[in-house]
Amino acid sequence: MKKGKKLYEGKAKIIYATQDKALVIQYFKDDATAFNNQKKSTIEGKGVLNNRISEHILSNLSQIGIKNHLVKRLNMREQLIKLVEIVPIEFIIRNVATGSITKRLGIEDGTVLKEPLIEYCLKDDALGDPLIAEEHIYTFDWATKKEIEKIKKMILRINDFMVGMFRGIGIKLIDFKLEFGRIKINGRNEVILADEISPDTCRLWDSITDKKLDKDRFRKDLGDLIPAYTEVAKRLGILHEQSNITAVNVTKLSSVKKKRK
Ligand code: TMP
Repeated sequence: MKKGKKLYEGKAKIIYATQDKALVIQYFKDDATAFNNQKKSTIEGKGVLNNRISEHILSNLSQIGIKNHLVKRLNMREQLIKLVEIVPIEFIIRNVATGSITKRLGIEDGTVLKEPLIEYCLKDDALGDPLIAEEHIYTFDWATKKEIEKIKKMILRINDFMVGMFRGIGIKLIDFKLEFGRIKINGRNEVILADEISPDTCRLWDSITDKKLDKDRFRKDLGDLIPAYTEVAKRLGILHEQSNITAVNVTKLSSVKKKRK
């Protein structure tokens, strides 16, 4: 699939056109940002790991009937995906209270929620992705009631599946962010899962030690982000044998690049 012109550049990914109008290429950058771009860095190898981890999770979700934009992974940093019109809402799903909710509502860090909580944020960097109520979505026509009902059902299935998947590899799924997109399939309007699911967009804690295996290592200056993301990939069974070479190459690539600087 030939890469065409750049259509959109976000904080961690770039979208390129292809010859097929319905398909685009999603490129995973090494850039890391936090607190709405206030904190920025480049972490070599992050894009490669997120590409693999997101591919793995989205393929698994596809198998349980969650329609999503992934067509296939093309290489270390790129995936072929279906072009969708992104619903301008970030859907945050929380199983355990940590991060912004603890500060916003004074909830004790680590409080296990009695059922998954869905929060909505308007996807608008200039406004700092503000938290909104479901009613705002309908008042300002950001999505229809039918779309949100469908999305909520998908979210709860995705959460159930992911909690189980991570529990099986000794990881607690604390919270995560999802995005959805509109697409026409066989002439019918549908909403499908889009964007990425990776340690950039999830909070993942080791089940026994509560060690953070996600982007909080960057947000909170804990260091060792690549070893943590590699640990997640290894436990998911993505990095072994031949793929281990990928991990080694990432390390080598980083040291080569550093030497050149
Ligand atoms: P928060 O506690 O900062 O609101 O984050 C909740 C979850 O959503 C956490 O897993 C990180 C993820 N997230 C994103 O992926 N992108 C974002 O822009 C924000 C604010 C959170």
